[in-house]
Amino acid sequence: MSTAPTPPPHDVTARATGPATDPAIPAGTLPRLMPRTAIRDLGTHLDTYGPLPAPSSALIAAVREAGLVGRGGSGFPTGVKMAAVAAHGRRTVVVANGTEGEPASLKDRTLMAQVPHLVLDGVSLAASALDATEAVVCIDVAHGQVAAIMADALAQRVAAGVDRVPIRIELSPNRYVAGEETALIHWLNGGEAKPTATPPRPFEKGVKGRPTLVDNVETLADVALIARYGPAWFRSLGATAEPGTMLTTMSGAVGTPGVYEVATNTSLSAALEHAGADLAQVSALLVGGYFGTWIPTSMASHLTFTHASLRTHGGSIGCGAVFALPGEVCGLAETARITRWLAEQNAGQCGPCVNGLPAMADALDQVVAAGMDAHMARDRLDHLLVLVEGRGGCRHPDGVVRMVRSAMSTFAADIDRHLAGVPCAPSPALLPTPITGGWR
Ligand SMILES: Cc1cc2nc3c(=O)[nH]c(=O)nc-3n(C[C@H](O)[C@H](O)[C@H](O)COP(=O)(O)O)c2cc1C
Ligand code: SF4
Repeated sequence: MSTAPTPPPHDVTARATGPATDPAIPAGTLPRLMPRTAIRDLGTHLDTYGPLPAPSSALIAAVREAGLVGRGGSGFPTGVKMAAVAAHGRRTVVVANGTEGEPASLKDRTLMAQVPHLVLDGVSLAASALDATEAVVCIDVAHGQVAAIMADALAQRVAAGVDRVPIRIELSPNRYVAGEETALIHWLNGGEAKPTATPPRPFEKGVKGRPTLVDNVETLADVALIARYGPAWFRSLGATAEPGTMLTTMSGAVGTPGVYEVATNTSLSAALEHAGADLAQVSALLVGGYFGTWIPTSMASHLTFTHASLRTHGGSIGCGAVFALPGEVCGLAETARITRWLAEQNAGQCGPCVNGLPAMADALDQVVAAGMDAHMARDRLDHLLVLVEGRGGCRHPDGVVRMVRSAMSTFAADIDRHLAGVPCAPSPALLPTPITGGWR
């Protein structure tokens, strides 16, 4: 490991209007978050991105001014959340959410493996800005290799004494809903990784009852860049209302599946073509992961990697995952499979979720089978979608309802065919449905 340079006195406030010196990454250029080769050595990292700025609470205003919105799924303004945590008192806690239970996404794991120090810089700087006493990076217990890379990076930092606030890594349970922020807090407090919808929210009372900032690891890596280069630099790429870049995991009918960094105002079609997709061979896209929405491929040139853009189509960019469905594969069958998987991920707490989601998966299977009971199954599905929506203890069932509704409109012609008794030709299962573990 090379020796870490002593962080110079660096005023984040001065950077609120732009960097005082030339940033290591010129404004308006890519990549920002994802260099072509991994940078795991602290010295190389600091040489590449520049020294770690001195801790300052002014970072909160800078993040707000930069217009960063969370990259974990909900797209909430990060600076607003940081300010809310700060307003709830001192001795706060920062939780970096690197659990990435979303099967269609690899971006958080890839980011942590490529630039572990950039993520840890963000954790460190956010923790200092919030006067935190501790910071935790949560990584899914099934992602051991990434956890090892992060642990090595952390050990380098401890040896070099770069972080003011102690940071530790925790291996969280391998469950989809364990990445939900309240589930993570329960688990960090010694309980089960199950979500709750009732207040207090983490920014009020989180880990050990303290105000807690829960942010996705990509969001925190962006915080590290904003602290170094300033809000104007951050805004030099991407959409005006949701600036910056986003990591997107592109899979399915693309030539080179993987994680790509795009400016948020990039069209879905441009990104997919960059990844080698022939859009003429793609019948639909699942955008935003399993909580996302199915959209017809014809929409891809009108939609960008922003929440606002996807909202016009009733969806969300979520965690940025985009799956391209090959023309010959039945989208409804894929929807039925992932609905079944999502049903199995429930936390066993709420009836509409525990009973409603498997019933939705059953009804979808029956429609796909195109048998005599397909009509009744479709009617039951319509009923279940209304019955389940808004009734769970967390957003899990609502995410499933939204995804299934989008499938029913995007694959309306397939449904009509199935109702007329014509099934699709059998096709391989494409969207992954990994085996997950228990609660603790
Ligand atoms: C069922 C469920 C699973 C979630 N899983 C993750 C996850 O794996 N990683 C993540 O960052 N956020 C996940 N979230 C969102 C978190 O609750 C939270 O909004 C996010 O970590 C906040 O970070 P951000 O503001 O930086 O996006 C999930 C939400 C739900 C409802
Ligand atoms: S809605 Fe489902 S996942 Fe959410 S708390 Fe209830 S049972 Fe658990």
